[in-house]
Amino acid sequence: MSLLNEIEPLKQTALADLKAAPDLAALEQTKGAWIGPHGRFTALMKQLGTLSKEEKPAAGKLINAAKVELEAALAERRSELELKAALPKEPTDFTLPGRRRALGKLHPLTQVTEDIVRAFRKLGFAVADGPEIEDEYHCFDALNTPADHPARDTQDTFYLSVAQASQPASSGSVSALGSGGKMPSEPAGKMPALLLRTHTSSVQIRVMKSQPPPVRIIVPGRVYRRDNADATHNPTFQQIEGLYVDKNVTVGDLKGTVEFVFKELLGEETKIRFRPHYFSYTEPSFEIDFSNALVKKLGKDWLEIAGCGMVHPQVFENVGYDPEVWTGWAFGFGIERIAMIHYGINDIRLFYDNDVRFLKQF
Ligand code: DAH
Repeated sequence: MSLLNEIEPLKQTALADLKAAPDLAALEQTKGAWIGPHGRFTALMKQLGTLSKEEKPAAGKLINAAKVELEAALAERRSELELKAALPKEPTDFTLPGRRRALGKLHPLTQVTEDIVRAFRKLGFAVADGPEIEDEYHCFDALNTPADHPARDTQDTFYLSVAQASQPASSGSVSALGSGGKMPSEPAGKMPALLLRTHTSSVQIRVMKSQPPPVRIIVPGRVYRRDNADATHNPTFQQIEGLYVDKNVTVGDLKGTVEFVFKELLGEETKIRFRPHYFSYTEPSFEIDFSNALVKKLGKDWLEIAGCGMVHPQVFENVGYDPEVWTGWAFGFGIERIAMIHYGINDIRLFYDNDVRFLKQF
């Protein structure tokens, strides 16, 4: 058979082989067997030189056309096989449930804060807030704690060494009331030193300066102390401040309010007691202890939980309220302690490690 006659049948066989390749590896082999350097079709091309001058052009044309056809068949089969390889091996079960995005949770301290806020809202309290970068005036002086006052040492804190050209501390605001305008300015002249607030009591001043009485607010928020971290201390922690100002407010109102909230939070059998104490911004002042089954479990009868008292007349003077007309009480307590008792957590640092294995339990 002449070379010219061999081309067509050889091409047909090659095409059939390429189309029949079951996978990509087999296809590569088939390609080698036909159009690789030692392939059968390549061999045919090599024989072109042996043909006579008359036969050569026609055979050359045929071979080239056949080669183009083989290359095209190879490319087509390759993309078919590639697609097949990319498809799932198992049939898809469209009745399977979809993939859910993992939902996050509120931090346990946020949950406890929200519980406390909910209890106070039932009594008509609004939530207020103020800046964590505070100045000495709001944190201490206006709360009747001047620079030489010994109470200041116990709250020695982180001062900021920034150029005090403008006041970064924003005014306090009562979100539920939608206020938050500019404060009347503090002692004119020199800017007071800036610090990380040591307690939420500073917001008492900001709120009273921004609105006339009566006042009924709570202030949840982060505070800072120069403390070494251990199982019960952390340089950062959360407090809730309360302030109630009206006419004829008494310690009885304070006690009733605190009792209601603690029973809501920690159960009906919770008891509270007031012990005399000293705070420069209240007179008289008390510490609040509480007791319930969880406290007993810790082997104690009472656990100290908060400071409180009747707002000191000097504080009213400082914010421009008439102490002859207005009376009030205030308290402040730590949220971590309540959360620790509530959930049976024995190390405050766990709240701040951000270990998801811990956090997702609540
Ligand atoms: N500011 C106090 C503290 O951080 C707690 C406190 C005590 C707040 C008495 C008050 C109060 O409002 O009247 O330890």
